[in-house]
Amino acid sequence: MKEKIEELKSRFENELSLASTEEKLEALRVGFLGKKGEIAELMKGLRDAVDKKAAGALINEFKNNVETAIDRASAALKDAMLKAQIRSAKKYNPTLAAERMYGSYHPITLATRDVEQIFTGMGFTVEDYAEVVDDYECFEALNIPKHHPARDMQDTYYLENGQLLKTQTSAAQNAIMKKYGAPLRAIFPGRCFRNESTDACHENTFFQMEGMMIDENISISNLIYFMKTMLSEVFRRDIKVRLRPGFFPFTEPGFELDINCLICGGVGCPSCTHSGWLELCPCGMIHPNVLKEGGIDTEKYTGFAFGLGLTRLAMMKYGVKDIRDFNSGNLKALSQFRSL
Ligand code: DAH
Repeated sequence: MKEKIEELKSRFENELSLASTEEKLEALRVGFLGKKGEIAELMKGLRDAVDKKAAGALINEFKNNVETAIDRASAALKDAMLKAQIRSAKKYNPTLAAERMYGSYHPITLATRDVEQIFTGMGFTVEDYAEVVDDYECFEALNIPKHHPARDMQDTYYLENGQLLKTQTSAAQNAIMKKYGAPLRAIFPGRCFRNESTDACHENTFFQMEGMMIDENISISNLIYFMKTMLSEVFRRDIKVRLRPGFFPFTEPGFELDINCLICGGVGCPSCTHSGWLELCPCGMIHPNVLKEGGIDTEKYTGFAFGLGLTRLAMMKYGVKDIRDFNSGNLKALSQFRSL
């Protein structure tokens, strides 16, 4: 019995490899699984077998294998036919099933979720905020009066009613202070817009993640602690950082937090404008004028804030050399990250 099955098995495999159409496959099915097929014949032979139980099990196993192999081959054939039909269809045919495609997350979505998870784990809430804001929110409440030269770097698109597309997520600081008062821990990601000459590391549309922590006795040490924790959790490896003084009208003191470019390792490349460093997370102690404007008692409370460049973070984390890839809609570049 065993030899007979072995022989049938190799015959089946051989015929299966030649069954290139549905009809041939059907003939094979009938030949093996049909009422008068090979397997039915084997069953008849079972009467004379010495060890009926063992022989029966062998036949059963063979039958199952034949069934699965034929089902699989039939599914593969149908799939191939469908694909060929889709490829050869000249006009759009809504009755054809679509080819199966898998989506993937945009790298900025992945970076945003990562940072959100890190900060929510440290007691921060995540806030959503508008993209169209008033001059007051974007500038005046942040200690940037009209005609202040700091506005020059933040030219943007203005609507006829005087509103503008926000140039920085800091634009939400005032409203969030007014919403929650102190103490407060919040992060607020958002899309920002600026009139920029674009290159490998500058875009006119990009994402930032703002963060604020206001409480009694908050100092620069708290700021440094939170920045360090965030960076080590995001990158999960040692990275070189440098903190240097930076000027922002809404901080006192203000800092630039740079990281060593992870694309070139610090020797200089287009992604870091050949400096080896990337301005990743400007930050500082919130200026008392800004706290006052948000209704916070400056005798009792101090706070820090930061404006993490989410788009740059995604570049560094995922090794995307050109910032313009993010808005390009280029699926070849963008679909390589985590699938849905
Ligand atoms: N909003 C600033 C910018 O886009 C970045 C920034 C600097 C945000 C210092 C802050 C901060 O919260 O404290 O250039």
